[in-house]
Amino acid sequence: MALNPTIRLQKYLAECGLASRRKAELLISEGSISVDGKIITEMGYKLDPELQIVRYRGELVRRKKKHTYILLNKPRGYVTTMSDPQGRPIVTSLIKDLGVRVFPVGRLDIDTEGALILTDDGELAHKILHPSHESNKTYEVLVKGPVSRGKIKKLERGIEIDGRSTWPAKISKAVKQGPASRLVITIHEGRKRQVRKMFEAVGHPVINLKRIAYGQLRLGSLPSGSYRYLSREELKKVLL
Ligand code: URA
Repeated sequence: MALNPTIRLQKYLAECGLASRRKAELLISEGSISVDGKIITEMGYKLDPELQIVRYRGELVRRKKKHTYILLNKPRGYVTTMSDPQGRPIVTSLIKDLGVRVFPVGRLDIDTEGALILTDDGELAHKILHPSHESNKTYEVLVKGPVSRGKIKKLERGIEIDGRSTWPAKISKAVKQGPASRLVITIHEGRKRQVRKMFEAVGHPVINLKRIAYGQLRLGSLPSGSYRYLSREELKKVLL
């Protein structure tokens, strides 16, 4: 393939995060940078980063891989695994033509809807899910029956499910809705079917469950089944 020099060396070095543009110029002039094995000290030198090898004192200098981050409003009826032996619809079938293979960060039950992050960045996914970072997750939940103040306090303090107490939770906006109640609950852990089990444990089975925020990142008005790209700034909100 023929070379197509498109970028100045100092700009490329800065884009790779090696140094600021000014500092990169110094590195070039002091003879610390080679392209295809040849030391380059010429300031206007242009290169083709697709085909040429740049080194700083022998160390390869490469552009950081750009990752894809998606926020999906998962509809009910979709599984968050990458394949399903029972042939149920998988969330990634809702995300088409990205040109990259993204996977869900964590899980939502098949019957749960709402905010689901998908990415091709395994490192960030690990960080989000690691117990030392684990973010708050906020759910809007519709449960059977009127929920008393006492039960709300119990759920907030921590309640035993699967032989272990849950961490403190926060419940707000509890309103009666006919024979049911609608509440907003924020939990810190991500145990399997946690919200359903918590409400079941106090005698109020869940009718509908929707995750409305992941950390400080809110689902907002994204329609069910739709997705959008997340910016770096929004990603930071996930970890808050
Ligand atoms: N809690 C649940 O019970 N289900 C989910 O999908 C998420 C949290």
